Parts: sequence; C-alpha cells; structure tokens
Amino acid sequence: MSKKITKAVFPVAGLGTRFLPATKATPKEMLPIVDKPLMQYAVEEAVAAGIDTMIFITGRTKNVIMDHFDKAYELEKELEARNKHDTLDLLRSIVPPHVSCIFIRQAEALGLGHAVNCASPVIGDEPFAVILPDDLIENADCGCMTQMVELYQQHQCSILGVERVDPFETGSYGIVKVGESNGRASPIELIVEKPKPAVAPSNLAVVGRYILTPAIFNKIKYTAKGAGGEIQLTDAIAALMADEQVLAYEFEGNRYDCGSKLGFLIATVEHGLLHKELKDDFIAYLKDLAKKL
Ligand code: UTP
Repeated sequence: MSKKITKAVFPVAGLGTRFLPATKATPKEMLPIVDKPLMQYAVEEAVAAGIDTMIFITGRTKNVIMDHFDKAYELEKELEARNKHDTLDLLRSIVPPHVSCIFIRQAEALGLGHAVNCASPVIGDEPFAVILPDDLIENADCGCMTQMVELYQQHQCSILGVERVDPFETGSYGIVKVGESNGRASPIELIVEKPKPAVAPSNLAVVGRYILTPAIFNKIKYTAKGAGGEIQLTDAIAALMADEQVLAYEFEGNRYDCGSKLGFLIATVEHGLLHKELKDDFIAYLKDLAKKL
C-alpha cells in the first residue's frame, strides 16, 4: 500500500438543516469565517499536509463550491484592468497549480458513510484523508491533517481525529473508548455513534478528520442504516476494527464546531481577533462593547 496520503475527500452533500434558512440555497461549507469560506480553510489544511487531489462529494444546491475552486476569468480580467494585483494573486492562490479538484455528486444525502463511499472509484487502493469543513481546526504552526499524515507514516493504519467534549454532548458525536495511549495516539477499542451520555463509553469524540485505509469501502458497502436512519461512517469503522488497528489521535489545535450557530459565532469572533488587518479595530470594538454588557 502507498505510504503517502495524496487524496482528501470532502463530504459536503449534507443538508445543513441546523443553519436554515441561511443554507436553503447557500451551502453551509461556503459560509465565511471573516473573509474566507469554511471550504477554503479545509482545502488549505489538506494542501499544507501535502495532499494534491481534492475530491468533493457534493449535492444539489452545492454548485457554488465548484465555482469557488474554478478559474474566474471575468473577475480576473476586471481586477487586472483595475491594477488590483494583490487581490488577483489572492484569487489565483485559492487552488495552487499542482492541486486538482474532482467533484462527485451524492444524489441523495444518505449519510456520511455513503458520501465517503461515493469517492471509492477515484481513490482506488490507497489510504486517504477525510475532512469535514464545518469542523474548523486552527493551528498556525502545524495543521491537524499534517499531524495526522505524519502519524500515518509511522503506523500505516486508519486514524481518527478526536477531542474531549462535554460529557452531556456525547449524543452529537461518534464516541470512542481507547486503550493505553502512546503520547497523543491510542488504539480504539470501541466506537459508537451518538450514544446518550448515560451509556457513552467515554467523552472522547471523533471530530471531522480521518485517515482511512481503502478497506473501509468494503465495510461501508455492507453497513446498514444506523443512527438517524443514515449510513454512518462510524459503523463502517467499527466493522473495520475487526480486521485492522484503528488509532484515535488527540490533535493539537483549537476546533470550532461551525455546523452549530454558537460554534460558528465563536469561530468568527476568534478569527476576527487573529486577522492581521482587523484585529486592532476589532479588539477596540469588543472592549467598548464589553463595557455596555
Ligand atoms: P452533518 O451531520 O453535520 O449534517 O454531516 P449536515 O446535513 O451537514 O448538517 P445538519 O446536521 O443537517 O445541520 C456531517 C458531514 O457529512 C456530510 C455533511 O455535508 C457534513 O460535512 N454529509 C452528511 C454528506 O456529505 N452526505 C450525507 O448524506 C450526510
């Protein structure tokens, strides 16, 4: 099996119901955090990890994702005519020249497992990354996927990005029970999708970062509908664990759950505080606001 992770799958065909009405015609993944859509943060994280093939699993109403990663001839011409070279460079850097983008339609939103399986003809017999753009993970020094690719190079097995969550929130995540840890990585002994707090095996939650071996495809094929009536990736990973080791990795970085309104707001404020052009004015505004609260 190839040791290098060169492909990333972005399952972005979900309905985004928690964000309606904003997501009626606009994909959740195109909502901007300050000045960049969530989707672009995810692609940048993959590029930083050495990945050069981006596979988007999209659905109806998601065509603007394709437009965002396409060349914008008219806009580029207009910016050139106006001598806006910095903006032009910014636009052209969205997809570096060595990166290719592939778009696959998931005709029906049958679940995350089903969405990942849509990529199987393009992935073939290689390990690959999965990134859910609504989990925005900030680490200026070493992106979450870069950390996971490095770990994959040592262990050559599937790896799930995990994080401790409030024990009352286990019902929103895939939850793992792990064995003895070796640093930030631990072997997964059990994985359950969305367990209620009373029966959750821990509060270690799977977030939107995975490296999977291609054996996952055969498992998804035989995975029945699970939680929420969807074909769950978690259930396929549970089946994979019968044959292969799967590691949980507690990544270094801050995760923002941008699929929820509060998480999205927090990400917006914290990214505003990090933004080179805006941060001074934004801090001054927040200080002023805090006095009025
Ligand atoms: P979510 O559980 O966040 O669902 O999916 P959602 O539809 O995006 O949002 P809500 O809960 O209705 O607000 C997790 C990820 O899996 C993708 C979603 O796009 C998201 O990135 N997904 C989910 C698919 O690509 N296809 C599916 O059938 C289901």
